[in-house]
Amino acid sequence: MSLAAYPNLRLRRLRASGWSRALHRETVLTPADLIWPLFVTEGQGVEEPIASLPGVSRWSVERIAARAKEAAALGIPCIALFPNTQADRRSDDGAEALNPDNLMCRAIKAVRDACGHEIGILTDVALDPYTSHGQDGLLDAAGYVTNDDTVAVLVDQAINQAAAGADIVAPSDMMDGRVRAIRMALEMNGHPNVQIMAYAAKYASAFYGPFRDAVGSGGLLKGDKRSYQMDPANGEEALREVALDIAEGADSVMVKPGLPYLDIVARVKERFEVPVFAYQVSGEYAMIEAAAAAGAGDRDALVLETLMAFKRAGCTGVLTYHAAHAARLLNG
Ligand code: PBG
Repeated sequence: MSLAAYPNLRLRRLRASGWSRALHRETVLTPADLIWPLFVTEGQGVEEPIASLPGVSRWSVERIAARAKEAAALGIPCIALFPNTQADRRSDDGAEALNPDNLMCRAIKAVRDACGHEIGILTDVALDPYTSHGQDGLLDAAGYVTNDDTVAVLVDQAINQAAAGADIVAPSDMMDGRVRAIRMALEMNGHPNVQIMAYAAKYASAFYGPFRDAVGSGGLLKGDKRSYQMDPANGEEALREVALDIAEGADSVMVKPGLPYLDIVARVKERFEVPVFAYQVSGEYAMIEAAAAAGAGDRDALVLETLMAFKRAGCTGVLTYHAAHAARLLNG
């Protein structure tokens, strides 16, 4: 009988005590793995709780700066900003996205003023927080989201954000060719060090509902985003999307949503030498909060276990609304 067989071999031996579990742990989760998405709104001294995202609020610009400071103090290296654009500034063409004084640009500058370069600022490149129809791009007469015309606007939006001080621009629109166009424009406009984190494999998901409430596009959106976001049935296609975004000049790629698509994360990690991030999206956050509120699980344990799962699957980092809470737990 082989000595490397039961009963000589007992995998439980390594699990028998805390010190041994710590010694053999394969994956580490730290606050440095987290990106904290934050919602900005107009006004002064405003905090607006978001009903479908219990525990998450929209903050006015000066209060966003305070959240960024809090993140830096917790060891979170990067925040992601999303604007709730006033209704009267939304239009068919989403032109407010190009306004150098829009809510997003003011928030970027406020965070930079408050935190210097202590924390990274990631901004979403897509038109949905600015359009009166809630789609991520421009519509043609038939209501189809056009690709090339949209890309031209996204390029200007990305440059607008970079000029305001964004460190990472993250195209979340799923148009073809946008990463190449944005990369070239960043080079030509004096932003060679601004990173592109491509939402490379972004699925047409039912998990985005609370986010759309948060940025105020949910009530406006007619139809769905399936002509540009990916079919949840597809995995091979995600690898093609990632390969293209890398070839077009992405510095890192993202898979979104998170937990239901960890197989995609693992395949991307195995296939490509590129940092891969996942977005634990609003519906996933809401699901954890609902489970905890219903007594179906311990909130802190659910948060840390799900975030660890992302790291185990191969993520370089995770965008999560639980970032500050998780960082507090991890910092003890
Ligand atoms: C916009 C965008 C969405 C999210 C991030 N950027 C929503 C969408 O595509 O409809 C979702 C994030 C979340 O649900 O937490 N392009």
